[in-house]
Amino acid sequence: MTETVTAHTKGLYLETFGCQMNVSDSEKIVSLLKGLGYRAVPDPALADLILLNTCSVRAKAESKVYDYLGRYRLRKRQNSRLIIGVGGCVAQQEGERLLKKVPYVDLVFGTHSLHLLPELVRAAERGERRSVTDFIDTETRLNLFPEASDTGELTRFVTIMQGCDNFCSYCIVPYVRGREISRRSAEILAEIREMAGRGVREITLLGQNVNSYGLKSPEELHFADLIREISAIDGIERIRFTTSHSRDISPELIACFAEIPKLCGHIHLPAQSGSDAVLAQMNRGYTRSEYLATVAALRRARPGLAVTGDIIVGFPGETEADYEATLSLLEEVRYADLFSFLYSERPETAAARFPGQLTRTVKQQRLDRLQRRQREITREICDGMVGTVQRVLIEGHSRRGDQLTGRTDANRVVNVAGDPSLIGRMIDVTIIHSYPNSLLGELYREG
Ligand code: 5AD
Ligand code: SF4
Repeated sequence: MTETVTAHTKGLYLETFGCQMNVSDSEKIVSLLKGLGYRAVPDPALADLILLNTCSVRAKAESKVYDYLGRYRLRKRQNSRLIIGVGGCVAQQEGERLLKKVPYVDLVFGTHSLHLLPELVRAAERGERRSVTDFIDTETRLNLFPEASDTGELTRFVTIMQGCDNFCSYCIVPYVRGREISRRSAEILAEIREMAGRGVREITLLGQNVNSYGLKSPEELHFADLIREISAIDGIERIRFTTSHSRDISPELIACFAEIPKLCGHIHLPAQSGSDAVLAQMNRGYTRSEYLATVAALRRARPGLAVTGDIIVGFPGETEADYEATLSLLEEVRYADLFSFLYSERPETAAARFPGQLTRTVKQQRLDRLQRRQREITREICDGMVGTVQRVLIEGHSRRGDQLTGRTDANRVVNVAGDPSLIGRMIDVTIIHSYPNSLLGELYREG
């Protein structure tokens, strides 16, 4: 995506933190600023404009933003024409305050203000400092859904909804991303058809809670029907989606796993905790046994389905027994991979006011033990794949460049020696070795 900067263009250095939604927004930022003559550069030293697209889901992600800004302070002193801007979730949360806190920041744009960025940059070029963090109305939002740009890749993310109405008690997302909104089904299908025409083979439907897609908009398809329509598009060989909420997994969606071979055998289904008491405090809207029943139903529909998840350790009031319940959930589900986090107190959220906040030491010990156990489980699952034949979509050259790389149906990276003409094709691979972060395979030969 990086291009040479000529005398007529200006350099844009964009740093993206956090989730895939931010990655997607960053693509949009690059294309919006092309219109003003900015081109992406790989090094802040080459930049006329530095933008940080930020995440505030945990305090650590937020403080990282200030660390990065600190690094750019000297650059700004040496080059007063350099423009520094902050967007994304920290920008939404802080707004004007950021301009006061960090005097060398020129512009702040919130999660609903991407489309105003060119205007803000033009103002900054004239020396004006501005912050825009207003939430916009539904109709305007619907017309501003980011379309993915053409990156030439075989696998692409497609945003189908944004925002969240769930208000899990620990989570800042509803405050910084706003209310849930579903993109128009026709627009999603048109974008995917167009992608398929350009050679995209796999798409991942993206949103904070994709399972509630369309529920607030009777004129749009429901999530399961959307998947069915996508599966009928020629050229699209694989469909994935993220992130799911266990409470909103419908019987129709479960049926998709039984009936649609293009739908990959993997679901990211965050449990957050294995204790009913903690789940209730978190306002998750399901119990441990309901969560496990959903996993079981999904696995009945698609035997061998890989489940990945998120867990928060050290939620306020989490007892030793609650924590043990989470550990035992790992044994019951046998997650293929697990993202686990220390509970982090976030402004505005209900849980920040809950009693029983735990010490850092207790939280850290619990997290370390949980992560050790999960590493073993992941290892066991990967080792168990050795000798099996996996269908792999070959996406390109491996990082070291001497092999091809792709992912299994369950989303595990596989490296395999083979001819580059296989890039873009689905092939059968025999797994011959498992490493901590990838599998090694060889082309499958029958007989
Ligand atoms: N503290 C720790 N982890 C959090 N997450 C969201 N909010 C918090 C918080 N306050 C985690 C959840 C979510 C993932 C994206 O981040 O596990 O699923
Ligand atoms: Fe946050 Fe809960 Fe919404 Fe996920 S479902 S974004 S954890 S509020």
